[in-house]
Amino acid sequence: MAKTYKKNAQNVYKVPLYAQFLAWWGLVFGLAVLFLVIGYFVPSKLCQFGIIGLWSLVAILTIWRAYILTKSVIKAGTIGKYITQRGAEKAVTKSLLATMSVNRLQDTPFISVPSVRVCDSRPSRISVEVEKLAGMYDIERLTEDINSSFKGKLGCYAVTSGMITTDGLTYKFVLEDVATDKTWRPATLKQMKQPSHVLTLQEGLKINLADFPHIICWGKSGAGKSTTLISLLVQSLMWSKSEIYIVDPKNEFSAMSEFYPANRIAVEIDDVLRMLSYVCDKISSRQKIVADGVKTHQKMGLRAYDLGLSPIVVMADEIGSLVASMDSKQKKEFLALVTQIVQKGRSVSCFAIFGTQSPKTDTTLSSDIRSQFATKILLGLASGENQRMAFDGEVARKGNIERFKGFYVSDGKTEQPMLFHVPDLHSHGLNDLKIIKKAYELGFSGNQ
Ligand SMILES: Nc1ncnc2c1ncn2[C@@H]1O[C@H](COP(=O)(O)OP(=O)(O)O)[C@@H](O)[C@H]1O
Ligand SMILES: [Mg+2]
Repeated sequence: MAKTYKKNAQNVYKVPLYAQFLAWWGLVFGLAVLFLVIGYFVPSKLCQFGIIGLWSLVAILTIWRAYILTKSVIKAGTIGKYITQRGAEKAVTKSLLATMSVNRLQDTPFISVPSVRVCDSRPSRISVEVEKLAGMYDIERLTEDINSSFKGKLGCYAVTSGMITTDGLTYKFVLEDVATDKTWRPATLKQMKQPSHVLTLQEGLKINLADFPHIICWGKSGAGKSTTLISLLVQSLMWSKSEIYIVDPKNEFSAMSEFYPANRIAVEIDDVLRMLSYVCDKISSRQKIVADGVKTHQKMGLRAYDLGLSPIVVMADEIGSLVASMDSKQKKEFLALVTQIVQKGRSVSCFAIFGTQSPKTDTTLSSDIRSQFATKILLGLASGENQRMAFDGEVARKGNIERFKGFYVSDGKTEQPMLFHVPDLHSHGLNDLKIIKKAYELGFSGNQ
């Protein structure tokens, strides 16, 4: 709830005494002491009642306050976090008050300052929620106010995205440690090895596809899509007995054909459609296996992952340009196959990892298909419209985005866009063909 501040004689806005808990507590406590003193010198029935009544009120107010405080500390997790959060809430409120009080239109004896809630989930992020009051200033200005309030040990945290909740009542901001580079920079192939179904996207961000299926990466040319996809390819090739089907319209992976099964890379449209049909057949046969598993284990909701089936991945780079070169019949067939894969694949360990241009220019994938992807990455500086399309109405902060960076949302990890860093495979030569070959051989032999 918003708090009302009143201008005092020095033209400074303060919460008036009558709206402060401590003032009321002090008043009741003072009266209780006064009655005690009077009762001592002039004992009377009225005084006795007064003493009992007032001291009971002091006790009730104190217990109530202690209860609220304990609840807040429990919610925060630790006393340290509670103190950090309260400190940050106070600092943000002070900053909002300062902006609102210099606003001439607000030159009134009273100002309503929105309530602020801070949640400290460091090192991943700090979330700030600000109540949206009528006629409040815009998200960019609020961002500045919030950034200026985080100082000292929290100084490296800055707003990376802001949005208004769908009910229009609250601004939500995510602050991340922008001083620490979260780019994943593995030094050896061994460091890229992950347990089956698990993928590392950046430092501190791992995804288990069984729980959060399908990944899509949007970005203009040169933004780092292929690099992101290659990192995911190398990791998934190393999963024991995994099957990775590569859709390669730009013929970027053809050099792999010297060691890779020919039926798992498709460049031409007909081959792509044939390969995807084959994957869909696999999905159907796996659905039978899973159904049998449910009967045998008498467990509903069983997945291929729970039965130990190895993952299948359809990795497709530049699907927009592929679809652009299709006739309408091919396009229809392609979309039907992709829909089957993203809808039915999740329970049978068959996943899509797609890379394509911006959601606005590449309208191949309908919002229904897009919503099936648990992890969505938008690389580079993107317009608000692209952000809304990529993140289902959630808008990341506009502003400068460095090269090889972007935003992501990931079900179960973050509801709001957070900074994404394209993995760096170049520094240690891990984007080399020899590395991809070695990764494939490791996975093929089931060598874990
Ligand atoms: N994290 C990174 N650090 C340095 N260079 C990178 C990084 N990611 C990609 N690159 C380089 O940038 C160029 C474009 O990357 P690429 O992944 O091919 O982009 P896209 O597929 O979006 O066009 C490539 O030459 C690649 O070597
Ligand atoms: Mg590319």
